[in-house]
Amino acid sequence: MPPAASIAQRVSDWQALHGRQDLPWQNTTDPYRVWVSETMLQQTQVATVRGYFTRFMDRFPTVQALADASLDEVLGMWSGLGYYSRARNLHACAQAVIQLHGGAFPRSAAQLESLPGIGRSTAAAIASLCYGERVAILDANVRRVLTRVLGFGGDLAQAAQTRALWDAAQAVLPPEGAPAPAGFSMQRYTQGVMDLGAGLCLPRQPLCTACPLADICVARAQDRVQDYPRRSRKLKRSAQSIWLLYLQDARGAVWLDKRPTPGVWAGLYCLPLFDSEEDLLAAALGAGARPEPMAAFVHVLTHKDLHLHPWRMRLSVTQPPVGPSAAMAGAWFAPDEWPALGLPAPVRRLLQAD
Ligand code: ADE
Repeated sequence: MPPAASIAQRVSDWQALHGRQDLPWQNTTDPYRVWVSETMLQQTQVATVRGYFTRFMDRFPTVQALADASLDEVLGMWSGLGYYSRARNLHACAQAVIQLHGGAFPRSAAQLESLPGIGRSTAAAIASLCYGERVAILDANVRRVLTRVLGFGGDLAQAAQTRALWDAAQAVLPPEGAPAPAGFSMQRYTQGVMDLGAGLCLPRQPLCTACPLADICVARAQDRVQDYPRRSRKLKRSAQSIWLLYLQDARGAVWLDKRPTPGVWAGLYCLPLFDSEEDLLAAALGAGARPEPMAAFVHVLTHKDLHLHPWRMRLSVTQPPVGPSAAMAGAWFAPDEWPALGLPAPVRRLLQAD
């Protein structure tokens, strides 16, 4: 095992010189900004998050503003980022911060983790970046860095091995209460280990020659960088076919209904969904026009491939009082209303394709 203390020190030193310094959520100790950015960054690349983060902060500059907003508006601002449970949790968490903590974020990772949607790694990111707490983060990028440098070969499909890796991640840090090495900062270490994972310690072709840990990296010494991290269980994927009715009136307004919770796209506005072509055609019957099939396509979610079959139906009238059948929930939305709506990405693409 490489000497743990030197790992943290090297990463912190490297961050100061080579890490990212100018991201819109850096250079702040405001836990609200760090929390929103970390939540957006959980499953989304920095390049995409930048614009969303800036717009989100303009609209919801404080945790109070976010708590006061409607969930619909929050989902609208999130539209296109995917993994909408993040936005639903963000909204619920903002309300919990107001109600349970008087609007001030708790100041320790342990307390932060008790809030809705804040997991162990995000809690640690907020506490280390904002308050300098000596607490380890362990997201997917950091798991790659640490399993490689430490030569941690445990199977992360096993909870006990994941716990052991958390312990190892904590052991890399200077212990709470002990003086930090000269120049070391938790802010730099936390940001640095994420920067290393995102920029150098890449899954396939890591850029080891630029890495500050290369000479103590066990995986590299073994020439087995690709074997870390180890996870035996493969994600079980499933497939689902969905028929979408793209119903448009004479002025271009589209019939959308809000998806129930729980389920695919919960809380988002969507074209009416059907389990079969027959169901779609039956619902469209009597609407005064014939639906036509559009090109089918696949939309990939984490655990599921969605095979989407959109059918288009244009009405020659403007906004009949109900949809094609009285039983179909929803409402008409004009094109100028679409940008503010939370729409599933493939539905937005369909609407924008015109
Ligand atoms: N991914 C998760 N958190 C991040 C951060 N603070 N900076 C860059 N990438 C990240």
